[in-house]
Amino acid sequence: MNLYGVFGNPIEHSLSPEIHSQFAKQTGYEISYEKLLAPLGSFKSSADDFIENGAMGFNVTVPFKIDAFNYASELTTNAQSAGAVNTIKVSKDKIIGENTDGIGLVNDLTDNLGINIQGKIVLVLGAGGATQGILLPLLNNNPRRIMIANRTKSKAKKLKHKFAKYGTTCGFSLDEIKHEPVDIIINATSASLDGSAPNIASGAAKGAICYDLMYGKQTPFMSWAQENKAEMVIDGLGMLVEQAAAAFTFWTGKKPDTKKVLERLRG
Ligand code: ATR
Repeated sequence: MNLYGVFGNPIEHSLSPEIHSQFAKQTGYEISYEKLLAPLGSFKSSADDFIENGAMGFNVTVPFKIDAFNYASELTTNAQSAGAVNTIKVSKDKIIGENTDGIGLVNDLTDNLGINIQGKIVLVLGAGGATQGILLPLLNNNPRRIMIANRTKSKAKKLKHKFAKYGTTCGFSLDEIKHEPVDIIINATSASLDGSAPNIASGAAKGAICYDLMYGKQTPFMSWAQENKAEMVIDGLGMLVEQAAAAFTFWTGKKPDTKKVLERLRG
């Protein structure tokens, strides 16, 4: 049996085993996919043990994506620009680190939701790891510009400079966002974890597509977007399935049908 899994802490509520076993069924590629709880500070030895047991690859989630970046012996372009790894592929003489989060977001927006990024003004809220992971794949789709707005402005400015060579980027503090509507707003902050939405001018949401990287029926950002007349409000479940599909293809070369899996998860 081809052995794969997902490392995280906590990991109990991960949907990845269910998603990957559906992909495996669809494509006729037999896998065993495990949830792997690594103790904090022990990612390396846990990953070594899993590979020793014959693992061919694994996913990595919070809080180990930077440990996985340091663990890989080779990095893809996406992983390098993200500064983090969510997918590891084990081959004979190397451990390749990839990051499929950004491509997962772009594929959900374009393939599942029919949203064209080209020529659009995209406002990304937050300037942490999640934002860094999505900027290159978004910029590869030629938006008119990406506005990065963060509570701590200096971090938004830093990312603006880092990614300026790939397209038009600008950095703001949250309170510099004015009431003019934008085309797409992506919430990449962790504000939901303390039960809040990032505090920006409500006018920005009017007529916009508002996408929360977190998934859940109703995040605080989704409620804020609905109250402020967004045209479309979406959570990150599609991105979760799409980043898993990109990892599955990276490992196996096979392309699963994500729409069926997403329909089942949405129930
Ligand atoms: P992740 O890997 O999820 O991106 P992170 O690197 O810790 O996590 O980044 C969290 C992001 O959410 C940051 O941009 C943070 O803003 P600061 O840089 O100012 O800390 C943002 N964030 C967290 N809580 C927030 C809140 N209540 N309102 C607005 N932004 C918030």
